[in-house]
Amino acid sequence: MSRRMLLRSLCGLQNLSRSSRLSLHSSSVNSKHAFLAAFQTLLHNRSYASTPQPAASASSLNQAELAKFAAIADSWWDAEGPFKPLHVMNPTRLAFLRSTLCRHFGKDPFSARPFEGLKFVDVGCGGGILSEPLARMGASVTGIDAVDKNIKIARLHADLDPVASSIDYRCTTAENLVEEQMKFDAVIALEVIEHVADPAEFCKSLSALTVTNGATVISTINRSMRAYATAIVAAEYILHWLPKGTHEWSSFLTPEELVLTLQRVSISIEEMAGFAYDPLTGQWSLTDDIGVNFIAFGKKQPVI
Ligand SMILES: C[S@@+](CC[C@H](N)C(=O)[O-])C[C@H]1O[C@@H](n2cnc3c(N)ncnc32)[C@H](O)[C@@H]1O
Repeated sequence: MSRRMLLRSLCGLQNLSRSSRLSLHSSSVNSKHAFLAAFQTLLHNRSYASTPQPAASASSLNQAELAKFAAIADSWWDAEGPFKPLHVMNPTRLAFLRSTLCRHFGKDPFSARPFEGLKFVDVGCGGGILSEPLARMGASVTGIDAVDKNIKIARLHADLDPVASSIDYRCTTAENLVEEQMKFDAVIALEVIEHVADPAEFCKSLSALTVTNGATVISTINRSMRAYATAIVAAEYILHWLPKGTHEWSSFLTPEELVLTLQRVSISIEEMAGFAYDPLTGQWSLTDDIGVNFIAFGKKQPVI
């Protein structure tokens, strides 16, 4: 079986655990739309006051970017809403994570819970659309986001599933976790670095959170003309997949810049892949073409 085929077959394993399927099915909600409506009602009935926000001075915080996410936070679990691209890409992102992390940590990629025994942090977790499947795959997951409303929604949604409810969600930043001297086997930040104020400082914090010989995984968008045409012009202005202004082209990093930035903080990139969109099937797959969306897996080197 080729590597690509193996990855495709693994994509099929990302569905809900049996217990979560049972808990969702046994509720009175039995259609996707009714479920979403019930979840939205639950959100509107909750207040968003009170949990502490990260200090505004934290170096990675870009308040304008955070405001964009706070404005659409209610839509995290609407698979047809502004986060649809992340929902559709999720199986492909998880296939990359399963493949690279299992190889790195010597785990069986065919196991239902390959990440059992590993401690992950999902930095910039939003509403938890990546944190939840990682928890179902056995990882002990901490999900952090700088937007309090995102964390509240992530918590509410995770509580619908006994497995996902183990996720430790916190409204904080990577910098704050470094101050608390927290360490993780894998530090994962997907589609976040293009929204932070200082990417180099952000990478420094991700490295500090990763145990020696642990893994750091980052996905983002290449600062290429092709990315401008597809990820901004097509996705935001023609197809309306994302709200206009979601991305600033100048905030994108090239793969070379990301590799160098990570090298400076003792993370060596070992594997990289691009994401390709097939307009006929509406699906994403992994590709060698890193010209637009890409994901990088790195190993934390011992600091001498
Ligand atoms: C495009 S979303 C990606 C969400 C999630 N990682 C995923 O891919 O499904 C970016 C998220 O990063 C969060 N974010 C931006 N800057 C952050 C920072 N400095 N620290 C923590 N979270 C941040 C935003 O609030 C938002 O939820």
